[in-house]
Amino acid sequence: MIYRVSKLHHPIIEEIEIPPDKSISHRALILGSMGKGETVIHNLLESKDVLSTVRILKKLGVKIQREKNLWKVKNTIGFKEPLEILNAGNSGTTARLMMGVLSSLPFISFLTGDKSLRRRPMDRVIIPLSQMGAEFWAKSGKFLPLAIKGAPLKPIHYTLPIPSAQVKSAIILAALRASGETTIREPLPSRDHTERMVKHMGAEIFKEEKVIKVKGSELYAREFKIPGDLSSASFFITLALLIPGSRIVIKGVGLNPTRKGFLELLKKIGGRIEENIKEKEWEPRGDLIVEYSELKPFKIGKKEIPLLIDEIPLLALIATQIEGISEIRDAEELRVKESDRIKSTVGNLRLLGAEIEELPDGMIIKGKTILKGNRVRSFGDHRIAMMLIIAGLIAEGETIIEGAECVDISFPGFFGKIESLF
Ligand code: S3P
Repeated sequence: MIYRVSKLHHPIIEEIEIPPDKSISHRALILGSMGKGETVIHNLLESKDVLSTVRILKKLGVKIQREKNLWKVKNTIGFKEPLEILNAGNSGTTARLMMGVLSSLPFISFLTGDKSLRRRPMDRVIIPLSQMGAEFWAKSGKFLPLAIKGAPLKPIHYTLPIPSAQVKSAIILAALRASGETTIREPLPSRDHTERMVKHMGAEIFKEEKVIKVKGSELYAREFKIPGDLSSASFFITLALLIPGSRIVIKGVGLNPTRKGFLELLKKIGGRIEENIKEKEWEPRGDLIVEYSELKPFKIGKKEIPLLIDEIPLLALIATQIEGISEIRDAEELRVKESDRIKSTVGNLRLLGAEIEELPDGMIIKGKTILKGNRVRSFGDHRIAMMLIIAGLIAEGETIIEGAECVDISFPGFFGKIESLF
């Protein structure tokens, strides 16, 4: 699908509603299906990626029902051997977290995904789960499609070679079914939703310094109210910061410290962002007020990257509007996201007139540039499509985005929100 957008000529002064958190929605469904009793989920994100998780769990015999605004998850019979291939679609979180679940089940499952997911590395999960006792047969040893044979699992002591919440979560889900205590050393923190949620459901899990300790534990059903997705909010935060005179309010956003790298960086470089934490529970959440701001250039690397990984395409766009040179380094992980996000960000922003250079592990951006509309491509990547639509709202003339339909992966209703700004 082709989407056309032109420059927005007025400030945005409104309250913006954003969809529920994608990472937490996947986890509520998966953990709900592992728990004793019925898990009730309020405000589940009904996006393509999350529906891939629903589809797979149903094929494993889990009862999942939508009743009005609630989703109910119950696994009465225990997981059953699936009769069909499990397809995670575009969703890395579904594939990797489900590998953690499947590794303890006493049967063989077959897992695949769409073209983008089939090029993303799975050996990062296969290696620790094999050490725990599961068996894998994967394309070229590391890609989907793959077959996995579950087994009684043993605990491991594992140091994460890359800061990845998906890998960490797959190991935690397997460790919950293992006998004894698994330890996961996390040299740099990444999003900790799984740790918070399994603890809330009764698991024995602790973090000491950089080591997560998790014991084989029973999970008990809970009621989950999913907060708004800070990664989805970031598109509108960017607009408000860049369009003079803007002021937006976003209510009920997840403000977990391991997700807030984007906000912290923006505040450091002059962003006028106010956070009002309203509820702490198992996940902190609250309201954000964001105003147009004069920003300073930035340099980010190893420590910051995992805490703002999904917002980097937006940071590159923001950097094109800042006077001076900004640098993003140690972000090679971007090359194995839904698209090669270093290439797709640099190539597209350059087409809009940005001065931006590709590095093996990041990019250098020289601002400030007046962006000009052009024909650009999403590469089937939802976050790239949405970043380009935001860029189109600040660029002169018309921007034409090819392959814009993928916004539904994480943000159903995105086009309607954009159109309501005019
Ligand atoms: C996610 C973790 C991150 C992130 C992805 C969602 C999760 O991936 O980029 O969008 O829900 O755990 P990695 O763990 O591969 O960094």
